[in-house]
Amino acid sequence: MEKELVIVLDFGGQYNQLIARRVRECNVYCEVHPYTMPIEKIKEMNPKGIILTGGPNSVYDEKSPHYDPALFSLGIPILGICYGAQLMAWSLGGKVETAPVSEYGKTETMIDRSGRLFGNVSEKTVTWMSHTDYIAEPPEGFRVTSHTEVCPVAAMENDEKKLYAVQFHPEVTHTVEGQKILSAFVLGPCGCSGSWKMDNFVDKTILELREKVGSGKALCALSGGVDSSVAAVLMSKAIGKQLTCVFVDHGLLRKDEAESVDRVFGPDGPYDLNFVHVDAHERFYEKLKGVTEPEKKRKIIGEEFIRVFEEEAKKIGAVDYLVQGTIYPDVIESGLGKSATIKSHHNVGGLPDYVDFKEIIEPLRMLFKDEVRRAGLELGIPENLVYRQPFPGPGLGIRIIGEVTPEKVKIVQEADAIYREEIAKAGLDRKINQYFAALTNMRSVGVMGDFRTYDYAIALRAVETSDFMTAEATNIPWEVLQKVTSRIVNEVEHVNRVFYDCTSKPPGTIEFE
Ligand code: XMP
Repeated sequence: MEKELVIVLDFGGQYNQLIARRVRECNVYCEVHPYTMPIEKIKEMNPKGIILTGGPNSVYDEKSPHYDPALFSLGIPILGICYGAQLMAWSLGGKVETAPVSEYGKTETMIDRSGRLFGNVSEKTVTWMSHTDYIAEPPEGFRVTSHTEVCPVAAMENDEKKLYAVQFHPEVTHTVEGQKILSAFVLGPCGCSGSWKMDNFVDKTILELREKVGSGKALCALSGGVDSSVAAVLMSKAIGKQLTCVFVDHGLLRKDEAESVDRVFGPDGPYDLNFVHVDAHERFYEKLKGVTEPEKKRKIIGEEFIRVFEEEAKKIGAVDYLVQGTIYPDVIESGLGKSATIKSHHNVGGLPDYVDFKEIIEPLRMLFKDEVRRAGLELGIPENLVYRQPFPGPGLGIRIIGEVTPEKVKIVQEADAIYREEIAKAGLDRKINQYFAALTNMRSVGVMGDFRTYDYAIALRAVETSDFMTAEATNIPWEVLQKVTSRIVNEVEHVNRVFYDCTSKPPGTIEFE
């Protein structure tokens, strides 16, 4: 199948991933590559279009990232955005200067609708600007197709050479008609048909994986999270019983979680795969006995996981491939341009070094999270698993303050199950990015019936976040919190108080350890 590819050349702007996402929303396959990618490589990849991203630099500064001007004569349609627009102007002999005033934020923008990308855009529209330099004069052969009060060249084009540039950011939603502009570029001058769909991806990937693995064996560390589940199912469709999925239950999972993973991947589930469920909770509890320091707990859990995994891999023997559910944001974050090295598995805390794998296979490494979810649905994975909120590898081990004991695990599992149930009932489960109950190590006096109690306090956490690097505590309706509180203190033994954590990140973290 011929793949229509659009390349985003990354010059260091903050919205670069978003550009790729928006292009993919036009059903056109798109990849982000660093601006250091040589022009020869670009020619080899034969893209239908190239987008130059924004970036924090000034083009006229020699140290800024530049690109071989031959790029603009390849005959491949190019769209420059912000810094990319200035780079196009500067490389082709236009004038780029510091603007008299920086433009930042939503900006009223005048559009010449005869511009090739602007046929569907209003004459006066709102765009998102973020720049201190601007194009003062376009290069020869270009015409100005948009301006603002501050910016004489908010967009320019040389349609004959298929070169287009916009000073604003069409990829962010604050640019009200931005998607129309990106779509006009990829479906117009680039000539893409917009036929890239998730089922194409799924079918094609299955064929590729089958060819790659041949008669070899593969092992997949399955956590029950969406990424590793989708990777496992894809792989299993490709190579069937040559794949073994290992699910390690460390006894720190949420209530009923191990059972739900079994239901999907075990012998009675819809997939015919080699599934190994290792019940390792006792050895984890044993190792965690008496340990209170959070980092130490993490290390113990990570290391023990590896030991269990190693033992299972040894039992299977002669495994050529290790399957990981790495997704595109992980790839981008770990440094573009570098090969996907055997980086420590975020979920399991590190890979066994001595297990001799020929190669790591990451079938989802080009997908964004929502695309992984779509692929999951396409593969028939149940919705509750596909839309699962993130759950950290060390599990409840990092949601229990102080020593982890089987009793405390039980308390937090029960409280968390109630919380999740009530959040779902209130219809908030898909709105809140992450929410859970944690066990504080605090005990205090309470009264129940006629009796004095001296029991634990549960902390409820709920956050909204786009990247999990920063987060805001969610404003959960009071009635929901009251209901959860009342159920927890009534139904969970050894809990007599419930707190709601109002802290954002920073200064807090999302987890509670
Ligand atoms: P923090 O607590 O650092 O969490 O604000 C940010 C996000 O990362 C998740 N998290 C982990 N995920 N292994 C994981 O797979 C881990 O060791 C781990 N620690 C934190 C956390 O749940 C949140 O989504």
